[in-house]
Amino acid sequence: MQKNDLKTPYFMIDESKLVANLEKAKLLKELSGVKLVLALKCFSTWGVFDLIKPYLDGTTSSGPYEVKLGYETFGGETHAYSVGYSEDDVKDVAEICDKMIFNSQNQLAAYRHLVEGKASLGLRLNPGVSYAGQDLANPARQYSRLGVQWDHIDTAVFDNLDGVMFHMNCENKDEDAFIRLLNDISDKFGKHLDKLDWVSLGGGVFFTWPGYNIEKLAAALKTFSEKHGVQLYLEPGEAIITKTADLVVTVVDIVENEIKTAIVDSATEAHRLDTLIYDEPASIAEASEQGAHQYVIGSCSCLAGDQFCVTQFDEPLKIGQRLHITDSAGYTMVKLNWFNGLKMPSIYCERANGEIEKLNEFGYDDFKRSLSQWSVS
Ligand SMILES: Cc1ncc(COP(=O)(O)O)c(C=O)c1O
Repeated sequence: MQKNDLKTPYFMIDESKLVANLEKAKLLKELSGVKLVLALKCFSTWGVFDLIKPYLDGTTSSGPYEVKLGYETFGGETHAYSVGYSEDDVKDVAEICDKMIFNSQNQLAAYRHLVEGKASLGLRLNPGVSYAGQDLANPARQYSRLGVQWDHIDTAVFDNLDGVMFHMNCENKDEDAFIRLLNDISDKFGKHLDKLDWVSLGGGVFFTWPGYNIEKLAAALKTFSEKHGVQLYLEPGEAIITKTADLVVTVVDIVENEIKTAIVDSATEAHRLDTLIYDEPASIAEASEQGAHQYVIGSCSCLAGDQFCVTQFDEPLKIGQRLHITDSAGYTMVKLNWFNGLKMPSIYCERANGEIEKLNEFGYDDFKRSLSQWSVS
């Protein structure tokens, strides 16, 4: 398979880049004793799990189907968490998970009898402090429903609990800021944590970011785990998959209205939703900061404001030209949707030896089936 023969739009996951991130994860584990479970909410493209499995300890999830997917396709430890379980969910999930983490004391009290003897019991706590660039993604935002607020905890709960989960970071690239949160948790909750077997510190710790001081993070994690006598977990998503995949698109038209817009055969609303939700412009591999030719990279959806970014190129863009939208793995493929009946990007993996392997492709039948399978009689 040659890249130029592949029809756009498509995602290309780069094995070598993925392995480079995973090697950093391995180092963190070795230095700290922390266990790492992949957050499937960020990345669930199970076709490459065989590359990830040797490095991580298992998966964590946010809903019942992710639990099943992690159990079936990844193995190792399967952590199950949900903001709100139904009784049916709990019954299904308890059969296959190793750890069941409830979001509230209500849910824990209502369902613990369905889990005891089957999985380790956990509760999500909200430390009331966080590191997050945007309020939308801030677990400690006002009126947060994520985890038990620290001043609402019935401390008797710790007598019959195996572990707790905190998640309070979003793309935290600053190890000192993380360590401050860790110390805060130790001060606020320490005497309760001492009674537990495990503590998960959630995701959002960007230890694969260039220049991140993994040794410093590892030392802080080790100290925390020894102080409280717990097995520590992190739940990385973005850190594992960052900068490992491009969304490859083709310029299908160029229009002009004061500035030029290159329209590509993809849309943020359908294929790269977080560009829109978080208003974070995408990066294009072919762009050049000093380039003289500026374009809006516009999507082919009907939404007026749907664009990938505004950027510059050294040469004018041409219809038919391909562009690589970089860093398009985390929170992208898990959020793909069929808005506008656009063609869904295929998914490929470029192996370390240069070979291209197809992981998925989609057609009109997938679109049709996602809308109805039966019509009214
Ligand atoms: C509970 C929990 N764990 C892990 C993660 C993964 O975070 P990230 O992909 O930023 O590492 C999230 C992200 O929202 C989360 O809510």
